[in-house]
Amino acid sequence: MVLAWMCPNDALVSPVCHVPREVMTAVLKVHPELSDDRLLKLFESGVERQWSGELLQWTEPETWDRVSLQALGALLTPVYLGEQTAMLGVSMVLPKLALAHDTEATLYLSTMGLDEARHFRNLSHLYQALDMKPWATRQVPEMWRYHTRLMKSGDPIDWLWGILISDLFARLFYGRLRDQYPDRIVGRLARRTLVDEARHQAFADLYLSPRLRHISQERRDALLNLRDDLFRTMDQLTVRLAGPLDDLGWSGQAFLEELWDDTEHWAERLGLVVPSKPPVPVPAAVTD
Ligand SMILES: [Fe+2]
Ligand SMILES: [Fe+2]
Repeated sequence: MVLAWMCPNDALVSPVCHVPREVMTAVLKVHPELSDDRLLKLFESGVERQWSGELLQWTEPETWDRVSLQALGALLTPVYLGEQTAMLGVSMVLPKLALAHDTEATLYLSTMGLDEARHFRNLSHLYQALDMKPWATRQVPEMWRYHTRLMKSGDPIDWLWGILISDLFARLFYGRLRDQYPDRIVGRLARRTLVDEARHQAFADLYLSPRLRHISQERRDALLNLRDDLFRTMDQLTVRLAGPLDDLGWSGQAFLEELWDDTEHWAERLGLVVPSKPPVPVPAAVTD
């Protein structure tokens, strides 16, 4: 992926892309300085806390009624796509951080790519293990708009801000699954995934905080527009998923309100809007 991003457009159709030496020397440093201790600590945490989906005891017998299973399959669809988008987005942003010589961030993002690949793989396994199906594209067109919007600019700051909102969405969703089904596969999967997602939020905090405090008002407005676009899409998605939400006893409105509050707290914490409440604490899972 790194090399593909560096290829000129016409070279992408070729099985072999010649990367000019000047590009490689601009990206690579033989012995880069690694001085951001907080990002390095997060990277070490990302390395130490890798885990395999095999730990989830997939074969444990479970009883689900058909309605709940269909609802779960539908509601997991946006999260499932979000995990894939996050995995691909990491590979899109990673070479840009390398080009900017943000070496510590590049290191950390490499662990995040593996996290998102694991989440994607685990959800694929879950669909198979519980014999359920995600919704098709035509059933939730808003979902595709959401993820297309997220990937649109390709700028690391835009992407990280958008993926933070997507991670907050995933955190709410996994949190409900963990609380509602603590002893089932979905609950175990959600509990472990939440630890990874907390790390991703900590990275968003470390990477975005210093950069967003010095951006222009125009750039700030563009990021808030991105937030609003994502929320409009989420709102439509919640209407479309009203049936499955109801089947699991979840309120779409409460979900959206909670997500909005979380996002607002982060917008304040990162300096995008004027704070009205104390800052959101960094998730406990990554501060120890
Ligand atoms: Fe994830
Ligand atoms: Fe994530």
